[in-house]
Amino acid sequence: KPATGAFPEGFLWGGATAANQVEGAYNQGGKGLSIQDVMPKGITQRPSEGPTEDNLKQVAIDFYNRYEEDIALFAEMGFKVYRFSIAWSRIFPNGDDAEPNEEGLAFYARVLDQLEKHGIEPMVTISHYETPLNLARTYGGWTNRAMIAFYERYCEVLFERFGSRVKYWLTFNEINSVLHEPFLSGGIPTPKDELSETDLYQAIHHELVASARVTKLARAIMPEAKIGCMILAMPVYPLTPHPDDVVKAMDTAHGSYAFGDIHCRGTYPGYLLRYFRDNGIELNITEQDREDLTNTVDFVSFSYYMSVAETADPAKQIKGAGNIMGGVPNPTLEASEWGWQIDPQGLRVVMNDYWERWQKPLFIVENGIGAKDMLVEVDGVKTVADDYRIQYMNDHLVQVREAIADGVDVTGYTSWGCIDVVSASTAQLSKRYGFIYVDRNDDGSGTLNRYKKKSFGWYQDVISSNGATL
Ligand code: BG6
Repeated sequence: KPATGAFPEGFLWGGATAANQVEGAYNQGGKGLSIQDVMPKGITQRPSEGPTEDNLKQVAIDFYNRYEEDIALFAEMGFKVYRFSIAWSRIFPNGDDAEPNEEGLAFYARVLDQLEKHGIEPMVTISHYETPLNLARTYGGWTNRAMIAFYERYCEVLFERFGSRVKYWLTFNEINSVLHEPFLSGGIPTPKDELSETDLYQAIHHELVASARVTKLARAIMPEAKIGCMILAMPVYPLTPHPDDVVKAMDTAHGSYAFGDIHCRGTYPGYLLRYFRDNGIELNITEQDREDLTNTVDFVSFSYYMSVAETADPAKQIKGAGNIMGGVPNPTLEASEWGWQIDPQGLRVVMNDYWERWQKPLFIVENGIGAKDMLVEVDGVKTVADDYRIQYMNDHLVQVREAIADGVDVTGYTSWGCIDVVSASTAQLSKRYGFIYVDRNDDGSGTLNRYKKKSFGWYQDVISSNGATL
């Protein structure tokens, strides 16, 4: 039976990317190195000393030079919004420079020109897994309180230059992922198995304070702006109805809720304070920090790809492929080729849950499926018959509609990797998410030409009908 909740008028349909995964030009235009320049294999191996040629992100999909063509394709699909990130090291090459790099700012001004030309609303992620390498190596990333001031200075420049042109800002991509991937997410060079929990939670505290401080700054400089932080949403189901499994699932879920609770409510939740007490974690939290944290977000943004299950039974604690956030595989679900378990209803669960918990409008800023695509020729035109992607996205958007029928307030949806990008976890190009195929392979070969997949026309219809074709 079709849901009654239609998508609201003005719903912001679009797509999302991140600088390091699309731009390339890793050492051009005055850009400094970021942590991504030493992560040629993503999180699957330890960082290299310096940049290496096997890093696909050095060229990525060459968005730096092809943004006009790409944005025109987004416009052809009917995008209302495009979420992209600004590479911190394009603006402050070393992170601690006294003055910003004008050439970097000019690049993003050109991207904004292009979006304005097509009437596409920009949404900017300020920090998306691309901490300047110098801040990681010299300062220890977010473990160091000095990061707050560097980040604030960077934000101040962005707000002053682009404040009149950008309404939607996200302070940190998937802020909760720092618990699991401290280098990728927090620029923390100490390997996770050598990092103390106190250092890790102190780093998290610095990030949350920085996020709150720039939220305050944003309101002063850009009164019309909407500021969000962002969470990697992954609902945790108990593997069985046994209360031990239910409690274990609750504990795991708290690991992510904590971040949202702090940036939505402005204080540390009791269960996290208890965790600190039980584990002898003592943080340096100043009075000023406590006051800063009260600057909470305007909306709740999150990515959603999959759910996980949890069990208290050690014999059943099998780590599933792709479960970077922990949890065990759910025996009732199918998985993508990379082991990410597909659960469209989980999106409805998350939306209801977040809305009830925080009572702030939601923005789904990432969702999609990484798959191997095959370029074929149909009537002389190159394309990809990506029915599996259409299926995944259709099923998820139907659940968004269900959540709307449940009364959830949601502002928009930006699919992840609306054009093929270099994967964050594995640094592959063969893990494709886009509606637009980019001719570049894992060995770096390819013309970089763009081709519309079958899902391109499908999404175009979804947008033009405001979801009625789902
Ligand atoms: C999110 C990140 O975790 O998932 C993106 O914000 C990332 O940067 C996306 O690309 C998909 O993950 P992956 O590893 O398949 O690229």
